[in-house]
Amino acid sequence: MPANDQPTSLFPTIDAPIVLAGATGALGLLIAHHLRRRGATVRALVRPESSTGAEAESLRRQGAEVVPVDYDSVVALTQACTGAGCVVSALSGLRNIIVDTQTRLLNAAVAAGVPRFIPSDFSADFTKLPEGSNRNFDLRREFQQRLDKAPIQATSILNGMFMDLLKGQAPVVLPGPRRVVYWGDADQPLDFTTMVDTADYTAAAALDPTTPRYLRVAGQVASIRQLRAEASAALGKEFKLFRVGSLGLLATMIKFTRTLAPAQDEVFPPWQGMQYLHNMLSGQAKLAEPLDNARYPDIRWTQVREVLG
Ligand SMILES: NC(=O)c1ccc[n+]([C@@H]2O[C@H](COP(=O)([O-])OP(=O)(O)OC[C@H]3O[C@@H](n4cnc5c(N)ncnc54)[C@H](OP(=O)(O)O)[C@@H]3O)[C@@H](O)[C@H]2O)c1
Repeated sequence: MPANDQPTSLFPTIDAPIVLAGATGALGLLIAHHLRRRGATVRALVRPESSTGAEAESLRRQGAEVVPVDYDSVVALTQACTGAGCVVSALSGLRNIIVDTQTRLLNAAVAAGVPRFIPSDFSADFTKLPEGSNRNFDLRREFQQRLDKAPIQATSILNGMFMDLLKGQAPVVLPGPRRVVYWGDADQPLDFTTMVDTADYTAAAALDPTTPRYLRVAGQVASIRQLRAEASAALGKEFKLFRVGSLGLLATMIKFTRTLAPAQDEVFPPWQGMQYLHNMLSGQAKLAEPLDNARYPDIRWTQVREVLG
């Protein structure tokens, strides 16, 4: 790596600014950091009410241009996208964001003549899943149809589950009872990538004009049985497997949870997390191999053991 800590690239990189929507979010802040580290000019779009917060201040300190914008106005978004080499969306939300706001952002990018668009996908492979199997993935497929019709080069980053979630939010590795909980088959391969690695890869992809429609990455592919070994090694205690039941039982549990605690307005209610697990454990959302991990060779992929340790 050169002295200024900027990674070199095997691909031609673009000099035009990168427009980043959702830059104040958890993933957005990390993408902004890695874009700046890679020498990019970053135009961070933020809602006016978020433009004075700590996240916006952090973006400014990193050298990003913070642009307050009315996300309901295609005219304002078009102005904000003018001259950009790529629009990256790290927005998070339900239909009003993933379908409606992203469509306005897409229309603005096209109107401004931006050549490339990276949507806020950052997930397991939702492209082949049956409708209704995951509410959040249905929304991504709906936006995907609009994106694929638009006259712009699109690239989706598919990274499996954020590995960081294994630390607690995803109730799979339970340090207290030392159990790895699952449904179905303990040997089904599952894809995990840390949020930081996903952000670094996205930054590299945003600066790479030659990206294909999909880039699939996984910091580590591990089955439930392998997660048990990783947890045991990371925490120095023997973990055991706990099979709750079949995938059919998980589907029934999802229905019950959704009925008892619908929380339809939440982006990640418990039943949606369970849908995500079902998609992964069934193998239906498994990323097709070969993965694109090696595309940017400067990225070192964090392993499950490091995250759990
Ligand atoms: N693969 C996985 O396991 C996994 C896990 C978690 C998330 N993700 C994905 O990662 C992506 C980013 O998620 P995140 O966790 O970084 O989200 P986050 O922290 O909640 O940030 C969301 C961003 O969207 C902006 N936003 C929200 N509502 C908005 C609106 N109405 N208009 C304009 N902007 C709005 C927020 O702006 P303000 O700061 O102004 O609110 C913020 O910048 C999403 O696609 C999410 O689904 C993947």
